[in-house]
Amino acid sequence: MPLKSINPTQTESWSKLTQHFNEIKDAQMKSLFLKDSNRKKNLSLEFEDLKLDYSKNRVTRETLDLLVQLAEECDLKDGIEKYLSGDKINATEKRAVLHTALRNNSDDSIEVDGANVLPEVHETLKKMETFSDKVISGEFKGYTGKEITDVVNIGIGGSDLGPNMVVEALHYYSNHLKTHFISNIDGDHVYEVIQNLNRETTLFVIVSKTFTTQETLTNATTVKNWFLEDAEESDIQHNFVAVSTNMDMVKSFGIASDNVFTMWDWVGGRYSLWSAVGLSISLSIGFKNFRQFLDGANALDTHFRQASYDKNIPVVLALLSVWYNNFFGSESEVVIPYTQYLQKLPPFLQQLSMESNGKSVDRDGNPVDYQTGNIIWGNTGTNVQHAFMQLVHQGTKLIPVDFIGFEEPLHGNMNHHEKLMANFFAQAEALYAGKTADEVHLDMKTKGQEADISRLLPFKVFEGNKPSNALLFNKLTPRNLGILIAMYEHKTFVQGMIWNIYSFDQFGVELGKELANKLLVK
Ligand code: F6P
Repeated sequence: MPLKSINPTQTESWSKLTQHFNEIKDAQMKSLFLKDSNRKKNLSLEFEDLKLDYSKNRVTRETLDLLVQLAEECDLKDGIEKYLSGDKINATEKRAVLHTALRNNSDDSIEVDGANVLPEVHETLKKMETFSDKVISGEFKGYTGKEITDVVNIGIGGSDLGPNMVVEALHYYSNHLKTHFISNIDGDHVYEVIQNLNRETTLFVIVSKTFTTQETLTNATTVKNWFLEDAEESDIQHNFVAVSTNMDMVKSFGIASDNVFTMWDWVGGRYSLWSAVGLSISLSIGFKNFRQFLDGANALDTHFRQASYDKNIPVVLALLSVWYNNFFGSESEVVIPYTQYLQKLPPFLQQLSMESNGKSVDRDGNPVDYQTGNIIWGNTGTNVQHAFMQLVHQGTKLIPVDFIGFEEPLHGNMNHHEKLMANFFAQAEALYAGKTADEVHLDMKTKGQEADISRLLPFKVFEGNKPSNALLFNKLTPRNLGILIAMYEHKTFVQGMIWNIYSFDQFGVELGKELANKLLVK
């Protein structure tokens, strides 16, 4: 069954939220904390190793109740059930949306067109496990009989950003294989990567759901030609594998069917890193770690399906996002992980969220008259504090922040970690509390800067009252990363549910492709 079409702005809760917004838009979070001594506890949630503190948001209990009512009126429950049970909720493409099945290790039955998809999922994972084990152990050899030392993932968009992000995020758990990524059609990208590679010991993983993507096919062909400068066509089977739904195209590229890892049309590209698209992840960290990554995501799926909305982490995050986007008029959200390992999380989330929810017609095909997908950006702390945080602290825009931190460092250096985490907490506090004119005055006086007070005071005031969420995990592990990514996937889904749009197609990327092809023909 397709998703229902419910205009959020026509609901009772939307009218109430509009009225409520006018009442509390200038409320100071500091006063809200004074009114409720348990606010931090009341506005915190926990799931396994993850603690979400969302108390530093411009919301009251009434706001949260009304947002929950909005989710109910938009029939989120019906949407979640259809999403997780394999209904064709990607209605424009007539497809189910079942990335959650990819991490479901149970004997359940999840059907698409009357057939249970889980046996095929498990079979492909088994094939990934066997293959990863063989490559890592050295049993699998390149065309001249040497062990593999390097893996190159050739793909773009969802066939690059997810694996690339996770390989880097979990590099602490990696083995001896060096992993590289080629995505851009810019020839400098492919030549920069291959110039340092040895054909004999490199495994090329060509990842393309459709196997028609211009960038990936051009890069794969360039790499194949470079490989054939020293090797024979029959050697391709030793150094090339593919991940795709398009067996015919893979075959005509010259890759043997045994070397193909299947995926399915019910997995969207930007949600595909849990499938064989994640082969480079499994090669880099080993299948056991990859399984833990899947298990973490699966655990979060259960939380998402079962927890009541007010205790449901992805739902709460999505509703807060709707609150800022549609009532405060915030255009963007910034994501700041306090670990260098997660540097590629923001670009991954950009595709996840912006390709999903960058839509301007509703489920009936009518133009919407309210804001939908927001702009996602970010980078790692503390680097961002010396870059864009000035604008978040003192600029004219209201930009909600997700701070992501880890209690324990991986390399164990507490000197670095204590400083890192002091900054993590300080940024949220500074955004929340700001610095009043009186405080600036007193501070300058104490520092003996009286002569400059009248000249500098306005520039040193921080308005404060700027919202942020703190997402604090115990440690960056494969399981916790699975939880984090699944959380953002479901947040994206809930936002699309409220905005009454289709989150799983991406027609907006097509026109540019068509025009580029026309220009090439000229
Ligand atoms: O950019 C459009 C898009 O279709 C993405 O949704 C997808 O992740 C990417 O291209 C790559 O597609 P494919 O895996 O089919 O090469």
